[in-house]
Amino acid sequence: MRPVRLAGFDMAPLDDQFYQPADQFFPAHSGVALTYDDVTLATLYSEVIPRDSNLDTQLHERLQLRLPIISADMDTVTESPMAIAMARAGGLGLIHCNMPERQQLSEVSRVKNNVHGLIQEPIKVGPNQLIGEVLAMIDERRFGFSTFPVVDEKNALLGLLPGHVVRERYAARKVTEAMMPRTQVHTIHERDLGSEPIRAADSFFTAHMGIHKLLVVGDGDVLRGLFTLSDIEHILHERSAQFKPARDDKFRLLCGASIIGLRKADGSLDRERIAAHVGALVERGCDVIAVSTAHGHSAGVGDTVRLIRDAFHELPIIAGNVTSGSGVEYLAECGANVIKVGQGPGSICTTRIIAGVGIPQLTALYLAGSEAEKHGVTIIADGGIVKSGDIVKALTLAHAVICGGLLAGCPEAPGQIMEINGKLYKQYRGMGSQAAMAAGSAARYGHSTKDSTRKVAAEGIEALKEVSPPVELVLAQLSGGVQSGLGYLGARDLTALRKAARFIRVTSAGMRESAPHDIVEVKATK
Ligand code: XMP
Repeated sequence: MRPVRLAGFDMAPLDDQFYQPADQFFPAHSGVALTYDDVTLATLYSEVIPRDSNLDTQLHERLQLRLPIISADMDTVTESPMAIAMARAGGLGLIHCNMPERQQLSEVSRVKNNVHGLIQEPIKVGPNQLIGEVLAMIDERRFGFSTFPVVDEKNALLGLLPGHVVRERYAARKVTEAMMPRTQVHTIHERDLGSEPIRAADSFFTAHMGIHKLLVVGDGDVLRGLFTLSDIEHILHERSAQFKPARDDKFRLLCGASIIGLRKADGSLDRERIAAHVGALVERGCDVIAVSTAHGHSAGVGDTVRLIRDAFHELPIIAGNVTSGSGVEYLAECGANVIKVGQGPGSICTTRIIAGVGIPQLTALYLAGSEAEKHGVTIIADGGIVKSGDIVKALTLAHAVICGGLLAGCPEAPGQIMEINGKLYKQYRGMGSQAAMAAGSAARYGHSTKDSTRKVAAEGIEALKEVSPPVELVLAQLSGGVQSGLGYLGARDLTALRKAARFIRVTSAGMRESAPHDIVEVKATK
C-alpha cells in the first residue's frame, strides 16, 4: 500500500531537492538578496479549506491580532478613521506622529472610545460646569458624542446631561440646570450584570424602547460604567460578520501610535518629554508604541527603546527598521518586543537610490526572523507589499505585514480626494519626502526638525494613489488571498504556514507567466 501523504511535510525526494524550506533555501542563496517576486511557494498536500484557515497572530502576549495586517504610521495613511477600520477588521493601525502630541493623544482616544462593550471610565461632567465648558472639552478632545453622566466629587451619580442641550445657545447655563435628574436616569447595579454583561444590556435596551444609554452603578450610587445602544448593536452585528475585531481586555478596539526620539537643542534625547508623551498615550489606552525610524540599528533608537522599556515594563514596543540579524538582536536587547523589517522596499521609498542601502525584503526577513526566534521577539514585514501573494510570502517568515500604499487610496486614509482627467486620486507621500519632513517627520530620517531651511536629501517621494474601496473591502480581498495561500500549503494557521513553506527561485520569464498574459484584459482584478 502507498504511504498516505501528511499535511505537506512528506514530499517526493526530487520535490524535496527543488522545493526547499527557508533554512535550506536562503542559505543556499546567500550571495543574492531576494524579494517577493524572486520566489514562489510550492503547493503542498492539503486538507484545509481556505475559508476555515485562521489568520490570528500573536505579536506579543498582550498584542493579539485577528488579521496580520497593520496600517503604516504615515501621515497619508493612519489617523483615527484608518485605525478604527483596521482594528474592526482584526488588524491594527499605527497612528503617525507627524502631528502635535496633543492631537496624537486625541486620535488615540477616538479609536479607544469608538465601540465599547461596557465603557468603564465614561467621560463625566460636574454639576457646576457651564455648558460652554462642556462644548470646549468636546471640541478639544474631538469627541464624537455629547451625552455625559453628571457626578459629584465622590463620583456618585447626580444625573445625565443629554446631547440635545449641549448647544452653543445654552453656553452660559450650568450643567445642573440642563441635566436629567438622577430619578429619571436608567441604571443597573454592577452586581446585576452577571457573567454576560452584553446580553444584560441588550435585554435592557429591548425592554426600554427609545432609551439609548444605560449607566452602571456600584454601592453608594458610584458611577461604574456606561452602555450605549449603538455599541451593543454593533457588537451583536460583529458576531455574525466576516471579520472579528481586534480588542483589548476592556473590549475596546486596539490602537498603536508611533513616536520618534525627540531631541533637545543640544542634541541629547529629550527623555522627560518622550516619557511624558508615552505615559499620556498609555493613559489613553494605547496598546503598543512604535519607535519608527529609517535606521533602527542605531544608538538613538536603542536609547529611546530603553527609555520606554525602563518606564513601562509591560508595554509592547515595536521598533525598527532593520534588515539584519544584528539589528534585531540590538533592538531586542534594548527591550523591543516586535521588530519592523524593511529598508527601502516601500512604494514611495527612494532610500536605496539616494543612500545606496537597503535589502530586498525576503532575504532581510529571513535573516531578521532567524535572529528574532533566538530572542523571543516577533517581526513585521514593512513595505513593498502590492498584492495578497506578497503577504503570503512575507508571512512564511514574519508575524504580520505593514501596508502603506495598499491602503492610502481608501476613504479612511487622511486627505482629500482629487480629480485628474476624470479619475479620482488621493495623495500618498513618503515620510522621508521633502513635504512630509517639512511637516515634521525629518527626525525619522536622521535630520533636524528645526532646520527646515537646510536642504536635506529626501528619501521618499510624493505620489498619488487611485481612490480605492473602503478598508473593509480591501482587507476582505487581501485576507481572502492569504487564506487561499494557506489552503494551497495545507496550513490551518500562520504557525503552520511558517513551518510548511517551501521556496523556489523564479526567473523574470516565470514571473511573467505568473501574471495575466497574452490576453486582452477587459476587467482588471485589483
Ligand atoms: P508601502 O510599499 O506599503 O510601504 O507603500 C510603506 C512603508 O514605507 C516606509 N516609508 C518610507 N521609506 N522613504 C523610505 O525609504 C520614505 O519616505 C518612506 N515613507 C514610508 C515605511 O516603512 C512604510 O511603512
